[in-house]
Amino acid sequence: MYIKEIELNNYRNFKHFILNLDMGINIILGKNAAGKTNILESIYLLSRGKSFRTSRLNELINHEENNFFVGIRALRKSGEFLARFGYSDDGKKQIKINGMDIGKISELLGNIYTILFTPEDLYIVKGNPEQRRNFIDEALLQLRPNYTYDLMRYYRVLKQRNNLLKNIAKKPSLRYTLNSWDEQITEYGIKLASMRSRFVDILASTAAEIHKNLSGGEKLDIKYMVNFGNNIDSYRDLMRESIDRDIAYGLTTIGPHRDDIKILLDGRNVKSFSSQGQQRTIALSLKLSEIRIIQDEIGESPIFLLDDVFSELDDDRKGYILENINGIQSIITANEVHVHGDWNAIKLGVI
Ligand SMILES: Nc1ncnc2c1ncn2[C@@H]1O[C@H](COP(=O)(O)OP(=O)(O)OP(=O)(O)O)[C@@H](O)[C@H]1O
Ligand SMILES: [Mg+2]
Repeated sequence: MYIKEIELNNYRNFKHFILNLDMGINIILGKNAAGKTNILESIYLLSRGKSFRTSRLNELINHEENNFFVGIRALRKSGEFLARFGYSDDGKKQIKINGMDIGKISELLGNIYTILFTPEDLYIVKGNPEQRRNFIDEALLQLRPNYTYDLMRYYRVLKQRNNLLKNIAKKPSLRYTLNSWDEQITEYGIKLASMRSRFVDILASTAAEIHKNLSGGEKLDIKYMVNFGNNIDSYRDLMRESIDRDIAYGLTTIGPHRDDIKILLDGRNVKSFSSQGQQRTIALSLKLSEIRIIQDEIGESPIFLLDDVFSELDDDRKGYILENINGIQSIITANEVHVHGDWNAIKLGVI
């Protein structure tokens, strides 16, 4: 699929702006603060129903205005469509597909597929377990929008259980009420972990192949690490055994909210044993794998959004990306052109 045109109205630093894109490689050039990342954010917004920069969508409204909208005209195998997202003057969300109002952000999902690659993605490799879980969750949310209900259900019960644990510390007689929560939480938890784990298996085999080519032979292994055994019985046993500890901490210490994704390079943990460049290459392999998984499962090529990453990659890596994004619309931001080619160059402001 590809985006033909983007219209930005009172969105961030753009009052009114129309951008036409090519189906191949597009490079957005501009000085700092020209609005390059904002443009990628606007595409991400219509793709995922959220921003990658903020959780408060009213920050997207231009400082001098009270409303905004982003409109995208795109082409998929099923035909051309128009998606639009904005806030009206009274602060109400307005979401439209082909001019028809749709009530919920969730119905916007599944129209525009995107993979975003930014310097922050290095944290998938070198960051904490939460950052890795988020990466997997975001990938699953795009691939299977219903996953949002699996996540919500688990985290809602987790929050309630944690509140209860704090109350039990004050009033021990409440302890017997934990049982019914634990039935539920383990049921939702095992579903979450198995969805993540199945996705990580697919990701692992795709990424191993891509990374081998990208790095000239390194062996990449990725594993989803469950912290509660491999079935509901071991999960329930561990929950029971940890009750005293959980009450003492006021926190649930077992469950998929504590899981991690192990990343190994030639058998060694990448967090402690790999260079910055190797870590960046792994992050790139993961993103390229996500593209391939969407192509396989959805039957459409996602749009590849690259923010500020080109300048940090060496010529071999850049060359590999360019060879492997054939037939995929890419939108790349940069302060200056780092690779020369027959690209659609979009210049923002005076550069
Ligand atoms: N709601 C808003 N209203 C007006 N301006 C805004 C709003 N939100 C952000 N901006 C401004 O938009 C400008 C462009 O930001 P953006 O991050 O897109 O720049 P950039 O071209 O990616 O820069 P860099 O090369 O430094 O990454 C910033 O100066 C920022 O202050
Ligand atoms: Mg930027």
